[in-house]
Amino acid sequence: MPLIPIEDNFTDVIAKAQRGYGVSDAELASRAEITAEALAAVKGGEANLPVLRRLARHLQLSPDALEILAKKTAYPRAPVFPRGFAFFNTRHEDMTVNNYLVWDNKTREAAIIDTGADADELLEVIDTHKLRVKHVLLTHAHEDHVAALPRILAATRADVWLHEREPAAAVPGARLFGDNDYFHLGVIAIKCLPTWGHTPGQTTFYVQGLSWPLALCGDSLFSASVGGSPTHFREQVKNTRARIFSLPKDTVIGPGHGPLTTLAHERKYNPFFAPDRLAPVEEKKPAASDEAPAAAEKRPARAAGKPAGPRPGKPSGPLGFHGRRKR
Ligand SMILES: [Fe+2]
Repeated sequence: MPLIPIEDNFTDVIAKAQRGYGVSDAELASRAEITAEALAAVKGGEANLPVLRRLARHLQLSPDALEILAKKTAYPRAPVFPRGFAFFNTRHEDMTVNNYLVWDNKTREAAIIDTGADADELLEVIDTHKLRVKHVLLTHAHEDHVAALPRILAATRADVWLHEREPAAAVPGARLFGDNDYFHLGVIAIKCLPTWGHTPGQTTFYVQGLSWPLALCGDSLFSASVGGSPTHFREQVKNTRARIFSLPKDTVIGPGHGPLTTLAHERKYNPFFAPDRLAPVEEKKPAASDEAPAAAEKRPARAAGKPAGPRPGKPSGPLGFHGRRKR
């Protein structure tokens, strides 16, 4: 497979942070003490490093990591899994989207994580390894992540699973899982980590039992960036930091878009999470809509004893946002 480009460039990262934290061009230029023209030039793609570093400090971004992203001097390298894991990158409209296959080598039980847009290669691998697909696990319900579901269901007898805070109507027939639920494939355990924000039920599937710990995170995290969110960006960054950046350092990250990466790489090179990320000069008061999912988390636990969210099929915030296009 040829190298997959890093999903977002420095202008995408600035735009996502600006939009997500609600900072206008005028505010940003004023706080960073740069001219409107200098800001427009950077947003247009001019890698003016001193200006970039000033902007980073006022967008809760790491100046060092943003500079490295602009200079294109870092690219993630993930280790090879000798067995039990396959990664697919398929074209969807004007972009590509990732999906994954995880299996237990002894029992041949398998799970598909997101569907991608084209299932040909996925079904070939399933056939080659004689796998029995038990589950299709969806990180979220956005169309690019579920596009090949009809083809997959026609070829397998798998159950489809979607988080209970995602819109059930988007995936008819899906069964619902909750925060911190587990799935099992032989000796492999898959935990559903709540990394919501990009969508109300956006989930990271944390896989243990393969050669390396593995986090399949949909649009929670990209190499050197994050997915967008029009209403819950702060929560998305916070949840991603809390649930993904607390995983073991050798965890391999499988994002919904862009190349495979590692937690160690993102700790160093992701502008949203690198260690020199500075606090903003001033915080804007969150909009009322920012608070809805947090309130939902305080609801009583469900009968099954798991933390409850909004009712299945009733998303707690707007859906359908992916940043520049569908991510
Ligand atoms: Fe998405």
